[in-house]
Amino acid sequence: MFSSSIIVAPMAGGPSTPELVVAAGQAGQLGFLAGGYKTAEALAGQLDRLADSGVPFGVNLFVPDPRPVDQQAVRGYREKLRHEAARYGIRLPELATEPDTDAWSAKMDLLFQQPVPFASFAFGLPSAAEARRLRSLGTEVIASVTTPVEAGAAAAAGATALIVQHANAGGHSAAFLDLDAKPGKAPLGELLAAVRQVSKLPLVAAGGIADAAGVAAALDAGASAAQLGTAFLLADEAGTRAVHRAALAGGEYPETARTRAFSGRWARGLANRFLLEHRDAPNGYPQIHHLTSPIRAAAAAAGDPDGVNLWAGTGFAKTSSGSTAEIIARLSGSSGGPSR
Ligand SMILES: Cc1cc2nc3c(=O)[nH]c(=O)nc-3n(C[C@H](O)[C@H](O)[C@H](O)COP(=O)(O)O)c2cc1C
Repeated sequence: MFSSSIIVAPMAGGPSTPELVVAAGQAGQLGFLAGGYKTAEALAGQLDRLADSGVPFGVNLFVPDPRPVDQQAVRGYREKLRHEAARYGIRLPELATEPDTDAWSAKMDLLFQQPVPFASFAFGLPSAAEARRLRSLGTEVIASVTTPVEAGAAAAAGATALIVQHANAGGHSAAFLDLDAKPGKAPLGELLAAVRQVSKLPLVAAGGIADAAGVAAALDAGASAAQLGTAFLLADEAGTRAVHRAALAGGEYPETARTRAFSGRWARGLANRFLLEHRDAPNGYPQIHHLTSPIRAAAAAAGDPDGVNLWAGTGFAKTSSGSTAEIIARLSGSSGGPSR
């Protein structure tokens, strides 16, 4: 299914640009557009730019979760964030009362009207009917899973491949069944083997892969391809914010940690002040994502990395700058350049 071994991960919130996806394709690998957080119209515009490029590519969407969250816990967290609002001189938004689907239906309609070679999903699964319709249009349906149980559910829903995401991954956990579960301690190779027990679908390994040896190890462990995000955050073509680039390259934050502080859903980022001070943030995605949005924006505008979600996987210290083609050459083992 994958004619290349490296997938440039979708990275919503700015890092993924059409230029990054095109550069991945031109370097012989596969890139994904990040549909998350965008309007359907903005995604349509990016799709048009990709269609003109002639390279194969994928689109990634966030699946809305209909389960209710504990509103009292989210309101309590909003109270705790008042001092952050004062620090950055912003007003905390009111909590939304309407469910936020991230324009799921409009974005799926787009994929039905303008079929793409690959569609991947995070935070849930398309329905069996939606998956069937995508498959009938020639679109590979790739589900992100974090456990063998999720892999079984994805296979049952009609996925044609699975992204097996380890908890070392930068950005959000794609987990969709048990949002409070602590991640297992098994390394990525063991997680791949455990998922292989429940599904024969092609597997894409993700999470903490940072160099050519890591890509090779994932392929040796039975993955058809490796999906990397953090490794491309410093790429010339990425839209990563200046404050995020500087933090990744600067060495001020030696560790990553998992947190719900920024969005109400577990994610891994550089362990900065905001992450460390709000370790008790409740389960409350996407309301908490919207709640902290002005804080993150104000901190970024002020060049303060301590108030920004600095998503990064555990392998971030090996992340290098340069063109996407150069980074791909290093990850393919065909270039031995320095790691920073
Ligand atoms: C900044 C950032 C944004 C991300 N956004 C998305 C996204 O929109 N959709 C998605 O499926 N995964 C997203 N991810 C997770 C990646 O798909 C992938 O699982 C992860 O980057 C792999 O771990 P690594 O960062 O250690 O390579 C994001 C990761 C990062 C670092």
